[in-house]
Amino acid sequence: MYPPNHTLSTPKGTVTIRPGVTGDAVQLSELRQEALRDNPTVYGSSYDFLENCTPEWALKVLSEDPQENCIFLAECDHELLGMTVIRRTHGHKVRHQANLFGVFVRPDWRGLGIVDGIFAACFEWARMREIVILKLGVVTTNPAAVKAYQRLGFNIFGTEPKGILSAGVYYDEYLMAKEM
Ligand SMILES: CC(C)(COP(=O)(O)OP(=O)(O)OC[C@H]1O[C@@H](n2cnc3c(N)ncnc32)[C@H](O)[C@@H]1OP(=O)(O)O)[C@@H](O)C(=O)NCCC(=O)NCCS
Repeated sequence: MYPPNHTLSTPKGTVTIRPGVTGDAVQLSELRQEALRDNPTVYGSSYDFLENCTPEWALKVLSEDPQENCIFLAECDHELLGMTVIRRTHGHKVRHQANLFGVFVRPDWRGLGIVDGIFAACFEWARMREIVILKLGVVTTNPAAVKAYQRLGFNIFGTEPKGILSAGVYYDEYLMAKEM
């Protein structure tokens, strides 16, 4: 049960937002590697250790139970340009929640509202599963992301001290939530 594919009109072309399928594994791992390599301070996973960015990782994520997880991709002319993973929280009393992570839009596609399109698909996916709280973490030094999440209805409900350690520097993370 997935939301229908959406399209976004941008000055660079029509972007399709859709759930990933196993055939996306190689391109998805390349996209994820670019994300981790070029933005080392914003993700918990590490490019240096090829953590959560190999084709095997991509295939695993793309093969997970669609009731519990989904990876939404933005694509133009068969090129992947953005992604976000949404994952329902495990456990009977917390199944009404989901976490979003791995949010990434390629640099030459930024500022066009691609993240809004990807998140709209996540919101629809969540509503179809009666998920009422969405959560994410974002380093406090990432104002573009914080601003985008606030625009999309997320509020900061706390700060995790030293959530990320990258190249010997600690980064605090805002914890953000959106009530559906
Ligand atoms: C955060 C991110 C997902 C936002 O995606 P997006 O689709 O560009 O989102 P928006 O179109 O709303 O643009 C967000 C902001 O980017 C900035 N922006 C605009 N054009 C840009 C460009 N060409 N390049 C970089 N940033 C740009 C603007 O500040 C914009 O906010 P504003 O126009 O409301 O002032 C994207 O910047 C990204 O992937 N960043 C690197 C990875 C990252 O930080 N991920 C989040 C981890 S929590």
